[in-house]
Amino acid sequence: MKNILITGALGQIGSELTMVLRKRYGYDNVIASDIRSKFDDEVVESGPFEIVDCTEKNKIGEIVKKYNVDTIYHLAAILSAVAEEKPQFAWNVNINGLYYVLEVAREYNCSVFTPSSIGAFGPATPAYDTPQDTIQRPQTMYGVTKVAGELLCDYYYKRFGIDTRGVRYPGIISHQTLPGGGTTDYAVEIYYEAIKNKKYTCYLKEETYLDMMYMPDAIKAAIDLMEANPGKLKHRNAFNVTAMSISPKDIAEAIQKIYPEFFINYKIDPIRQAIADSWPNNMDDSIAREEWGWKPGYDLKLMTKDMIENLLKKL
Ligand code: NAD
Ligand code: SER
Repeated sequence: MKNILITGALGQIGSELTMVLRKRYGYDNVIASDIRSKFDDEVVESGPFEIVDCTEKNKIGEIVKKYNVDTIYHLAAILSAVAEEKPQFAWNVNINGLYYVLEVAREYNCSVFTPSSIGAFGPATPAYDTPQDTIQRPQTMYGVTKVAGELLCDYYYKRFGIDTRGVRYPGIISHQTLPGGGTTDYAVEIYYEAIKNKKYTCYLKEETYLDMMYMPDAIKAAIDLMEANPGKLKHRNAFNVTAMSISPKDIAEAIQKIYPEFFINYKIDPIRQAIADSWPNNMDDSIAREEWGWKPGYDLKLMTKDMIENLLKKL
């Protein structure tokens, strides 16, 4: 029987992953947690919910013990754009939070899923077909915490035998919960603005190519990796996974196939543009495909159709 704790469960990924895990493993067996709560929210109402600040080790341990948790999906983190504004704060949440989760996992023998990111790469990384194992010299606080996190998770596996696993997510696009302050947030905002105003002012240049993925694939990646046969995993943490390499212009053109009047213009934010320019254009995810059968289901066209259908209902 699995008893799962999710940290950061009210965020963009957690709010959807929690519900999928509850349907899969039982509503009472998936404990959602976050540093905050929300009124009238499905994640808070549909199963156990606890306030857990991941920078408080004792609180994580108390909840793991209380619910006999054996698996932790550690999603609490500060994303790239906010991390550049508040680097000390981001270090504390992203590094100390992960360290405390790993220490609790060591004490109670839990498996741990932790997402890394395309942000773990930097300007010296090959930008095209970015290999699984390559140069990682990011120049952002977010990237520094993600590389350190990948190494720390590998260390806990090798040194203590803790079952740590993770992927390097690209930008995640979804229609339920807004993203939490990353560089790829434009790829969500553009769909909301297409529905609401038929126009969008983008903060990245039109030819900025980045890896992206639709939320159902992001959830599938997390669960498939956690359920993968450990004997087949040569890598453990930080598998490259991607579904599409796209630019603001590509998304605008996909939207214009549905709304020909949709208009995009550009007002560049130099900070987020510099971050995006330091990340890969497209990652090679063949190692994830080989070791645990990773395969995305959505491309730009399918995702755009689904995003627009869902946002029309929501907005
Ligand atoms: P998010 O910002 O939407 O959600 C993070 C959640 O963590 C929020 O609900 C926030 O309240 C919570 N939180 C913040 N500080 C906390 C603390 N001290 N203790 C407990 N909870 C705290 O983030 P997300 O997009 O859901 O990302 C989840 C993970 O996936 C992160 O590790 C992120 O780096 C990674 N990731 C996300 C993307 C993406 O595009 N969304 C891409 C690559 C990697
Ligand atoms: N979407 C994330 C960000 O932009 C990538 O890790 O921060």
